[in-house]
Amino acid sequence: MLNKKDAAERARKLRTLITEERYKYHVLDKSDLSEGALDSLKHELWEIEQAYPELVTPDSPTQRVAGKASSQFGKVPHARPMLSLEDVFTREEMEEWVERLRRRVPHLKTDFYAEIKMDGLAVSLEYEKGVFVRGSTRGDGRVGENITQNLKTIEAIPLVLRRPSEGELKTFLKAHGAGLAAAALSKIVDRLLSGSLEARGEVYMTKKALDRINAAARKAGEPEFANPRNAAAGSLRQLDSSITASRKLDFFAYDLVTNDGLVTHEQCHELMKLFGFPANPLNALCRTTDDVQALYDHVGKKRETLPYWIDGVVVGVNDLALFERLGVVGKAPRGMAAYKFPAEAVTTVVRDVRWQVGRTGVITPVAVMDPVFVAGTTVRHATLHNLDEIKRLGLKIGDTVVLHKAGDVIPKVVQALPKLRTGKEKAIVAPRTCPSCGTPVTRREGEVALVCENPDCEAKDLGRLLHFVSKRAFDIDGLGDKIMEQLIAASLVTEPADLFELVPGDVEPLEGFAEKSSRQLVASIQGAKKISLARFVLALGIRHVGEETAVELARAFGTLEKLRAASLDDLKAVAQIGDVVAESVHASFRNPRRQKEIDRLLEVGVEIEKPKRAAAQPFAGLTFVLTGTLESLSRDEAKDRILELGGRVSSSVGKDTSFVVVGADPGSKAEKAKKLGRPVLSEKAFLAMLKP
Ligand code: IVH
Repeated sequence: MLNKKDAAERARKLRTLITEERYKYHVLDKSDLSEGALDSLKHELWEIEQAYPELVTPDSPTQRVAGKASSQFGKVPHARPMLSLEDVFTREEMEEWVERLRRRVPHLKTDFYAEIKMDGLAVSLEYEKGVFVRGSTRGDGRVGENITQNLKTIEAIPLVLRRPSEGELKTFLKAHGAGLAAAALSKIVDRLLSGSLEARGEVYMTKKALDRINAAARKAGEPEFANPRNAAAGSLRQLDSSITASRKLDFFAYDLVTNDGLVTHEQCHELMKLFGFPANPLNALCRTTDDVQALYDHVGKKRETLPYWIDGVVVGVNDLALFERLGVVGKAPRGMAAYKFPAEAVTTVVRDVRWQVGRTGVITPVAVMDPVFVAGTTVRHATLHNLDEIKRLGLKIGDTVVLHKAGDVIPKVVQALPKLRTGKEKAIVAPRTCPSCGTPVTRREGEVALVCENPDCEAKDLGRLLHFVSKRAFDIDGLGDKIMEQLIAASLVTEPADLFELVPGDVEPLEGFAEKSSRQLVASIQGAKKISLARFVLALGIRHVGEETAVELARAFGTLEKLRAASLDDLKAVAQIGDVVAESVHASFRNPRRQKEIDRLLEVGVEIEKPKRAAAQPFAGLTFVLTGTLESLSRDEAKDRILELGGRVSSSVGKDTSFVVVGADPGSKAEKAKKLGRPVLSEKAFLAMLKP
């Protein structure tokens, strides 16, 4: 979280930008920012205000419904304010919302009424003696615009309400009548049909109608509607209602404002249906948050095939008295929340731009951002493609950006928001030399890409990264050649530390990955962060340092700090290490690029475990050679046991071999042992030695 001073500054800028964009969106019907991105900024502002309530200002966009009644239409004051809803995006956030309600009302009834959140425009419909007399938009929540004429062109809106039959009311009572007596229901119906009634709901445009209108606009060279909501709004705000009529708008009711005497929100819905208002057939009563989640999942899956656009599920406390009691906070009723589908456009901050060297030597800028939840996964990296793209975006490090991700495609930075700058942003500077090998960077004729032409550049070496994750090194499950190649090609990974910064949303667009498998891979990488010093040293891939040498180095120095600081003489003094190896190790740890690589590994959370020593070291001074197949444990397990007990494992039989352990189908090592007169152990004898 920001400190208070920075938070105040950020909140001020967010407010200005949101207010500006809201005005463009609601009043002018045109906006440069997608709704998801705007929601994301609003959510950030809300979070800052939660952390520092003293920063809330009365004119904050979180405190009121933005938008002004347009001057072109007459004004309509709303009898009850038309509110907005607080957004939640995940199951956790939804459950937290319920928890907050519970803290206010300890014996909260968990009945919820859940409805489909239509992507359209809220309207209020007023009836006198059962006849539609006035319809209005939300406007600023208190005063809306009179759009009666235009609403009358929508066939789904009843112009005259129907009177429910006795039979219908009976059925109603049976199915939904909790707490309601027959006589009371009759009275309510009579009162509403002979007096005033206000219903609210969403005017929307079907996908088909929107496609048709946009196709016509394209043909006529006119601008298309960016989304169904703009389309509905634009169509409703026509001064000529014949244009509205031609747009084929539709309507679903979601609230009966004049609900005196009714007990539940479900009853409002059912009664509205009897009066002739259409309601979404997917709406449902939910007894628990599990039910809400099930509906959300079900609708989420169906979303693509529905004939209209939806953006989530509205969940409300079903009990009307309780709903009232919970009251309103800011602009939203506490007892209702919009459980939205993951946005496909969100905002986040670019913290760094990393230049990744691909397999072909092309150097690609990759934005490293504050992790952000978009289209159902967390994303942290986005390729910026090349310098021209950075220029086009006008991007600087520290900028707030709009990030798009639809389904399982690669996330993309589509817009920078310079209005939110603090002055501390830094220009993005292209590297002059390859960030991996230091060779001067070239730019090929006619191409925008920067290239490292050094054929020996390590970053191009897939083998190096494969070695890093291999079984005896970091042992990362599921990271085979194909996946690693893709990670490199997508400019997600150049050096080992990059692996640990991957989040599921980075991996999901790769071939063969879905949501679950990308989460699994990231979990498996994160699970490998704790590692022994010997494995860590082996993983670095230092010339001449194989597993045996790595173990010796780890044993001799104990910690990475000591090993890194070791002088050439210190290294040469280790009994098992020859001069060539010592020199290679020494030079490697002095290499600035290697130092940076190690520092980054530690920075991203790689943790070197304290050496696991068995209390006793019965194998100290003993060297084992393993050959053939052991039955009861794998070769690696046997090695690890020997090392734990203080012994050494060598791959070749020599004078200093203490024992040769011979399994089934042994190789030539067994014969060599005989020749040299070294003792041979059967698997059984070896196992006996392992026992304490
Ligand atoms: S209930 C206090 N139900 O979502 C507002 N709203 O984010 C009560 N919306 O302004 C609204 N479908 O325009 C409700 N089934 C539904 C809805 C719905 C769409 C819109 C509505 C509202 C906005 C709130």
